[in-house]
Amino acid sequence: MEDPTASRPSRARARPRPEARREPASGEEDGVLLLQRGHSYAAVLHTPGEPPAYRPHPDPVPAVGQTLVRVTAAPVVPLDLLCASGTSYFGRPAVPYVPGVQGVGVVADSAAHPTGARVWFATAAGTAPGDGSQAERCAVADGDVVPLDVELPDPAVAAIGLSGVAAWMALTWRAQLRPGERVLVLGAGGAVGQAAIGAARSLDAGRVVAVCRPGPSAERAARAGADEVVPLTEDVDELARRLARACGGDVDVVVDPVFGAAATAASRVLAPGGRLVNLGGASGDTARFSSAVLRSRSASVLGYTNNALTGEQRAAALACAAAGRLAVDHELLPLSRAAEGWARTAAGAGRRVVLSPGG
Ligand SMILES: NC(=O)c1ccc[n+]([C@@H]2O[C@H](COP(=O)([O-])OP(=O)(O)OC[C@H]3O[C@@H](n4cnc5c(N)ncnc54)[C@H](OP(=O)(O)O)[C@@H]3O)[C@@H](O)[C@H]2O)c1
Repeated sequence: MEDPTASRPSRARARPRPEARREPASGEEDGVLLLQRGHSYAAVLHTPGEPPAYRPHPDPVPAVGQTLVRVTAAPVVPLDLLCASGTSYFGRPAVPYVPGVQGVGVVADSAAHPTGARVWFATAAGTAPGDGSQAERCAVADGDVVPLDVELPDPAVAAIGLSGVAAWMALTWRAQLRPGERVLVLGAGGAVGQAAIGAARSLDAGRVVAVCRPGPSAERAARAGADEVVPLTEDVDELARRLARACGGDVDVVVDPVFGAAATAASRVLAPGGRLVNLGGASGDTARFSSAVLRSRSASVLGYTNNALTGEQRAAALACAAAGRLAVDHELLPLSRAAEGWARTAAGAGRRVVLSPGG
């Protein structure tokens, strides 16, 4: 049989294929897609901008330097949708491909990691040719596989994932947070926001104040451990007043995944030497900062991206995030409902969707 993965540029030299799991079968029976030998189920994206479809897909064949992972939990994150849109700075992805830039699973075949080891992993799906985590199996570069030694269930680790890495590193590496300092978290009902609240708590911040839209977002921020939750308003003067009241003074570190009016207001309550770390632009790509405000207190506005981390930094941050007091509200959907999970994520439903191939 022709090797269906032979044309994939990143899979240069394949290791011997592990034993096929299923009996040969083909076609569709009573609406159920049957598997051919060498295939397993995956969420397959055929058209940029549209959600992936659950269907049989050729099993990944790990090349030398890759680990085959049996996936147990794969989150749907904003980056997956951005890559799949075909309109992002990553360019138009080669289709068809399996999306999913991260996941949790068990090593099925590897020269670098013990078979059966529980792992978290990252992929470049959507930013480079190759398949990602939203599948029963995934071939991952050995260096992007991180052994897991935490008690959290797989879906909880998957929900934290790169959001937890970003929150942890924004606070420790970029902002150099010190124990006792006050932290303000914007977009606090999102995955990055919830993770940042938990990370600030784990890192012994003095006071942790959250800003987000009222309703379910505010409830998530409160559950994540914020001392006080401030309702977001687009009125910058009013928001700055609310922040000053809630913080009981100025703040040392702002974690900001939204930018826009919230970032402008947050800059006004920065303490001398304060640091505002921007991770995303969920509410807009621009924000206004006053020169007088920034220079009068020697404050810093800093950018952050997970892409700047080394593999070692990312693995260490993931371990700290998964072992800390972090929790990201999530809902588990079977992989067969991947398209629904994508639609909910696109609609900003709020809870992190985690796909379960075994579900
Ligand atoms: N730099 C990095 O390495 C890195 C890593 C991970 C994520 N990110 C980025 O960070 C951002 C948040 O990611 P996430 O995983 O937390 O997303 P998420 O879980 O889907 O949460 C959505 C976030 O967007 C906010 N939001 C959505 N619509 C909004 C609006 N109209 N006005 C104000 N806020 C709005 C939400 O605010 P509420 O809390 O009020 O609901 C929430 O913070 C994304 O842009 C993502 O790409 C960056």
